Amino acid sequence: MSIPVKAVRVVLIVSLSLFLVSYAAAEPAVFSFDRSFYPYYPSLIKWEKGDVPFAPPQKCGGCHAKQYAEWNGSVHNMAFEDPIYQGELNKAVKAVGHEITRQCEGCHSPAGMLTGEIKGAGLAGLSSMALAGVSCDICHSISGVTHQQTPSRDPENGSMILSTGQNGVPVKRAPFKPGPNCGGGFHSCEQSNFQLKADLCASCHQVYHYDSHFPLEATYNEWKSGPYAQLDILCQDCHMVDIRTFREVADTFRKPARGDYRHYFNGANYLLSYLGAEAAKKSGDKELAKRLMNQYEMAVERLKSAADVEITPVYRAGQLSEVKVRVKNLRAGHNLPTSLTNVRQMWLEITARDGNGRVLLSSGSVKDDGSLPDDVRIFNSDGMGKDFHFAVHPWVVTAFQRHETIPARGYKDVYYGINVPQGVRSVSVEAKLRYRQADQNVAEALLASVPPDLNLKEKYGIEKIPRLPIVDMVIREEKLAVQSKQHGQ
Ligand code: HEC
Ligand code: HEC
Ligand code: HEC
Ligand code: HEC
Ligand code: HEC
Repeated sequence: MSIPVKAVRVVLIVSLSLFLVSYAAAEPAVFSFDRSFYPYYPSLIKWEKGDVPFAPPQKCGGCHAKQYAEWNGSVHNMAFEDPIYQGELNKAVKAVGHEITRQCEGCHSPAGMLTGEIKGAGLAGLSSMALAGVSCDICHSISGVTHQQTPSRDPENGSMILSTGQNGVPVKRAPFKPGPNCGGGFHSCEQSNFQLKADLCASCHQVYHYDSHFPLEATYNEWKSGPYAQLDILCQDCHMVDIRTFREVADTFRKPARGDYRHYFNGANYLLSYLGAEAAKKSGDKELAKRLMNQYEMAVERLKSAADVEITPVYRAGQLSEVKVRVKNLRAGHNLPTSLTNVRQMWLEITARDGNGRVLLSSGSVKDDGSLPDDVRIFNSDGMGKDFHFAVHPWVVTAFQRHETIPARGYKDVYYGINVPQGVRSVSVEAKLRYRQADQNVAEALLASVPPDLNLKEKYGIEKIPRLPIVDMVIREEKLAVQSKQHGQ
């Protein structure tokens, strides 16, 4: 007996479509998107490649000396050369390969990734354009964004479109109406409102895991859901001005005057500015060293302006039983801390003493090996991988096990139990809110894995990695009565 041809066809079609269904199921259902739309995936950057090459910042600086001088002391200038980044990138390439680490490069050196020049960690042989990190010709060539088409339907992983120009003419974009001489014969000018929006910063300041789309760094979304966004205070209004102006903006919600904007992009990374200044000094560039030290001082000042701390007593049955410490986010436009929260450390160090200087309570002191004690009260995150175990690296972390940061204009309370011996009438409490870029061991591990062509001793004068510097953001002291006033009245 022969099987009818039609039946065979049906069986074939059914099994073929079953195959298709199971294949389609391998694509993440929640994060569906058009992969062919993003040729550099997992970087979501797009390039309208014309006949105009990227121009290195030195070229722009020839006519825009002021913007160049401000930018070249900034962390954006160092986004690719950054030794901490290079150490991590080197580990990433070994762990997951360059196909995936181009995600990193899409934010840390977009031009170097797009032209294919950057093939992994290391600086040797790279052009000044690739080394320039987040440079002039990135921000001023952005012609649009694809924020709505991304896997998370939010800005992420470099979701912007770069167009450097057409028909041999560079086109640079800024929010101002161009004058007749705009571009000085080198470039034409296009008015674009985009540079006056937080969307400009969003694509790079929302970092998602390359595959699971977990928001590893969420500065843009934190800002967007907070009070500053509602009142039109943008990233630029706090990070593209000097410290005095930033404080005023944060306190009054009034925008800076047009003439107040500077290309500083100053944040919190005083460590990187300091390392950069050491390298500039070693290479004999005193001007650059000065700018970097200026950025270092601004970052420290910014951290010292960001928060406040209040100490209040808690009484039980009229007796001091706990010390309450309230940490307030005063002036950060997003959570405090933000960005790389599973690496940054912001913690409380508390000491309570009786009248004779005897220590009654102590918490959060750095241990001899540079690490923090297990019971420290810390504001940051612990990352975890797919196996739900603790993890640090951005290609492994797919969720946070602990995420304790303070929203813009918000606060968190921390309570410390205290046992006051008989006869003590008052207790003086000192609270310090402290910050550093990373745990000592994490920083040492990253710096130990920089690529071989980055010689830390030659470039930065680092022979042995010293203790990471700590900034005291706030120091407060309060004298607390051991008996409550109400008691016994
Ligand atoms: C969407 C853009 C984006 C992507 C993708 C990205 N980063 Fe970053 N990265 C940033 C931003 C923005 C910061 C600054 C955050 C801060 O200072 O807290 C940063 C900071 C860092 C730092 C800290 C540098 C320092 O000096 O403390 C390291 C290390 C780093 N990134 C490594 C990586 C690696 C490795 C990858 C790829 C697996 C990656 N990044 C992918 C945007 C990105
Ligand atoms: C991270 C993005 C970014 C980078 C990098 C950047 N700019 Fe800008 N630039 C802006 C923004 C935003 C404005 C608008 C500032 C304002 O509101 O006045 C601007 C404004 C300008 C203007 C108009 C005049 C002014 O200063 O406001 C010039 C000229 C300019 N940039 C040149 C440069 C040059 C040259 C570099 C590199 C040395 C550079 N930019 C790097 C974002 C950037
Ligand atoms: C030959 C000189 C020259 C070079 C090189 C040059 N520019 Fe300009 N650019 C000008 C002049 C002149 C203006 C008019 C405004 C001014 O004087 O600042 C201008 C204006 C701008 C503006 C503001 C546009 C506006 O509407 O106000 C931006 C942004 C800008 N340039 C970016 C760049 C970038 C990025 C580079 C490097 C890729 C660059 N320029 C290289 C001469 C130059
Ligand atoms: C009201 C002022 C204000 C606004 C608006 C603001 N910031 Fe900040 N930002 C701060 C302060 C203060 C700090 C230092 C404290 C901290 O690290 O959070 C900071 C720190 C940072 C850091 C460094 C984080 C670290 O610990 O390494 C980054 C990156 C950053 N901001 C990016 C942004 C971006 C992107 C936006 C817009 C989406 C933005 N900021 C909006 C005030 C502001
Ligand atoms: C092309 C991607 C890109 C764009 C666009 C971008 N940034 Fe960044 N930004 C980075 C990266 C990468 C770093 C971290 C460099 C590092 O630490 O090695 C950074 C660092 C910073 C820092 C310093 C953080 C610190 O810890 O001190 C600030 C502040 C900042 N950016 C603000 C802005 C603002 C404001 C805008 C928009 C006007 C913007 N950025 C646009 C990629 C970008």
